[in-house]
Amino acid sequence: MQPKQDPSSVSRRTFVAAAAAASAFTIVQPSAVRSAAANSVIELGLIGCGGRGSWITKLFTETGKYRFVACADYFQDRVDAVGEEHKIDKPRRHTGLSGYKKLLASKLDAVVIETPPVFHPQQAMDAVDADKHVYCAKPIAIDAPGCLTISAAGKKATEKKLVFLVDFQTRANEHYRECLRRVRNGDIGRIVMGDARYPWSGGGRAEPSTNPEERLRNWYHAVEISGDFIVEQSIHSLDVATWILDADPVSAVGFGGRKVRPAKGIYDHFAITYAFPDKVLLNFNCIQSIPAVIDEIRARVYGSDGYIDTDYYSDVMVRGKQFYRGRNNNLYTTGTQVNTQEFHQAIVEGKTDNPTVAPSVRSNLTAVLGRDAAYRGGELTLETLIKEGRKLEPDLKGLKA
Ligand SMILES: NC(=O)c1ccc[n+]([C@@H]2O[C@H](COP(=O)([O-])OP(=O)(O)OC[C@H]3O[C@@H](n4cnc5c(N)ncnc54)[C@H](O)[C@@H]3O)[C@@H](O)[C@H]2O)c1
Repeated sequence: MQPKQDPSSVSRRTFVAAAAAASAFTIVQPSAVRSAAANSVIELGLIGCGGRGSWITKLFTETGKYRFVACADYFQDRVDAVGEEHKIDKPRRHTGLSGYKKLLASKLDAVVIETPPVFHPQQAMDAVDADKHVYCAKPIAIDAPGCLTISAAGKKATEKKLVFLVDFQTRANEHYRECLRRVRNGDIGRIVMGDARYPWSGGGRAEPSTNPEERLRNWYHAVEISGDFIVEQSIHSLDVATWILDADPVSAVGFGGRKVRPAKGIYDHFAITYAFPDKVLLNFNCIQSIPAVIDEIRARVYGSDGYIDTDYYSDVMVRGKQFYRGRNNNLYTTGTQVNTQEFHQAIVEGKTDNPTVAPSVRSNLTAVLGRDAAYRGGELTLETLIKEGRKLEPDLKGLKA
């Protein structure tokens, strides 16, 4: 059984029971949707019909503001499950690695990208090129070139008056937003130092399969598909930390390895110290595959007058010039619900400044920097990471185009 609290685990999902009520809304032509009427139903295509993808379709449709008209997944059984659920015509269910391109060439307004991380940059850029609004799962990418592709896709979306939203639940939460407002307002004074962590009982102990299709189904264990645990999972914690610090890291010194997981595949622990401008240090560690651990996704930052402390599963608070505490209520679902609502609102209002893209690029680069510093067992600067442009290439031989 998977632990109940993991926000990213394939099988740690609670399904939403609410019913969809879309019938009262008008379907508009895709060409009109760039700033559609407030009661418009947006026609969606789902790319990646696995755990998160099939779960999130229910959240979209229960708003009554969306309808899934097409889906794509590498595997036939995955598109059929979502296809049956949403009454998607069989010719609009696409399979194989490039099936998503047929989906993009078809008549729909927006795509929801829920594939393994390595595919996000290309699929998101192709979607923007095809004039579709984009709702993209974290992490946006698994390497620095991928992060830069997403940055470019976000900018291109803005130029083309398209919406591009990256789905982090914390950034959509009212208590996180209030705490961040207070930090920016000076409630904890000048930033001194940060401390973030991601201990997780999940993750399992498998190694990547040598069978190409099996490896794709169980992609989490393959570094060149997931980006490793620090990028695929712990990004939630680093995203909040970099949101609070509001700066790019300058460098990272890191270590990590495998003590309980098999010799091949992803690490089970990382310990990284990041240096930010003005000699602000962030200590970060993450560990997975330890059964009895109580899960946390924590980011705490100390200032000259107090501190902010945030955890995905419990409280978010500022103890500084004034006190504020909010309790998170099932952030995994509620944060995503806000994102699906705000995605619709941005489309109908033509709000295409796409404010979630730049912070997602920043936190993703921070995670990649920490990982690559740990792989080297030493120090790495962000400048070097970007200049070297190391790309992780998955071996896709043996898979259907
Ligand atoms: N809290 C969160 O924000 C959260 C939670 C869970 C997952 N996620 C993210 O959602 C994404 C998907 O994760 P998941 O847990 O649903 O994984 P999953 O394996 O359950 O689903 C991924 C699906 O993508 C399909 N796929 C693989 N390659 C493809 C390709 N090239 N084209 C089309 N389809 C392809 C797979 O067959 C699979 O059905 C990941 O980026 C993950 O990090 C985010």
